[in-house]
Amino acid sequence: MDKILIHGGQPLSGSIKISGSKNSALPILAATLLTREPCVIHRVPDLSDTNYMLQILMHLGAEVERASGTVTIKAEKVNSVAPYEVVRKMRASVCVLGPLLGRCKEATVSLPGGCVIGDRPIDLHLKGFESLGAAVRVENGNVKVFAPKLTGAIANMCGKFGPTVLGTDNVMMAAVLAKGVTVIEGAAAEPEVCDLANFLNKMGASIEGAGSRRIIIEGVKELHGAEHDIIPDRIETGTFMVAGAICGKGVTLNRVQPEHVSSVATALSESGFNIESTSSSITVSPNGAVLRPLELTTEPYPGFPTDMQAQMCALLSTTEGKSVITESVFPQRYMHVAELKRMGAHMQIEGASAIIQGVERLLGAPVMASDLRASAALVLAGLKADGVTEVRRVYHIDRGYEHLDEKLRELGAHIERVKE
Ligand code: EPU
Repeated sequence: MDKILIHGGQPLSGSIKISGSKNSALPILAATLLTREPCVIHRVPDLSDTNYMLQILMHLGAEVERASGTVTIKAEKVNSVAPYEVVRKMRASVCVLGPLLGRCKEATVSLPGGCVIGDRPIDLHLKGFESLGAAVRVENGNVKVFAPKLTGAIANMCGKFGPTVLGTDNVMMAAVLAKGVTVIEGAAAEPEVCDLANFLNKMGASIEGAGSRRIIIEGVKELHGAEHDIIPDRIETGTFMVAGAICGKGVTLNRVQPEHVSSVATALSESGFNIESTSSSITVSPNGAVLRPLELTTEPYPGFPTDMQAQMCALLSTTEGKSVITESVFPQRYMHVAELKRMGAHMQIEGASAIIQGVERLLGAPVMASDLRASAALVLAGLKADGVTEVRRVYHIDRGYEHLDEKLRELGAHIERVKE
């Protein structure tokens, strides 16, 4: 197993290119199951999560070819059963349910288990399928959905913690081949949902309103093949923005969509960093001002993303004064806090909030990654810390960051990946 070693304190500068979005790629790859014709998807990041998704598609009968960032998928015939062995490694496997239900009118997928960032139920996905006329059964750890025919209906995707992203994706993917009009109320408005809707429309679907809280889908008889470029990864962008802030002299991120990270840019400029954008790049640099602590609450898009909360904890841990971060999406998503404390951070959890008292410096330590974004936070803290930080369980990072260590090295970080 690999670990990452970081010799902290090196100033970062220069530029890197941001990869395609993991959270766009996963449902878009799943959506290719909706047609017999080939689909060509560009800028698919090379991550363990996208590779798991491709393995699932192959298990379901699709032919997959991968040439660097371009993936061609032809699902001429599909079977509708995704067993535990193929889906257990990734919770997002659940997004094959919608396209399988749309195409085969039935699907059996092993239920996702718990997750360190929270319970992560799929009740809203299942209620959405029921609204379209599907019957849902949970037995032997599998969820089975079936419907002799799917009929357009109103489905609400908003729960106690806000709209569900993959639930919105799933119902949208089932509804594109339903008879009649489906209205998704309380829809997630994340850019990844829009990217999926754009891809489905290229395949011949009729979807309006993606990016707002109401999505209207007029069912069509069939979909055809399409070609699509995945949008830039806004969480990778945000993570590198924080890297630029935490110890940068001027870091430029290319191939980004600045409007997708405006909440992160606002937070960083409120804290005292300079943020300059063009239509496809962002530069983060210090502006010489004394940095200010922040009060932030994670929210569904366009609010501050929960997927950036851990990285922001790392940044604020060395910002003088008291910062408060509140999680409204995954109230228990604080596994990184105990590890950051081992590096000298002063923070404590009160309910769904992290109370952070900025310290002057962090000290390198061996730390354990617990999930994807928590791992990113530990790497960021390691860039700032005095001495050597050893991040273990690096496979969490490989799920969602393409060449994180290489990109940081390009910016001047002293970071290496070694075998344990
Ligand atoms: N929820 C329910 N019932 C449901 C579905 C969700 O109560 O049926 C709750 C969840 O427990 C959570 C909230 O609703 O409290 C939002 O969860 P959501 O369904 O939106 O999460 P998701 O779609 O499973 C995606 C991303 C996550 C990201 C969240 C929130 C993908 C593959 N995953 O998950 O990304 O945190 O949206 O933005 O798109 C990550 O990339 O590190 C990651 C965890």
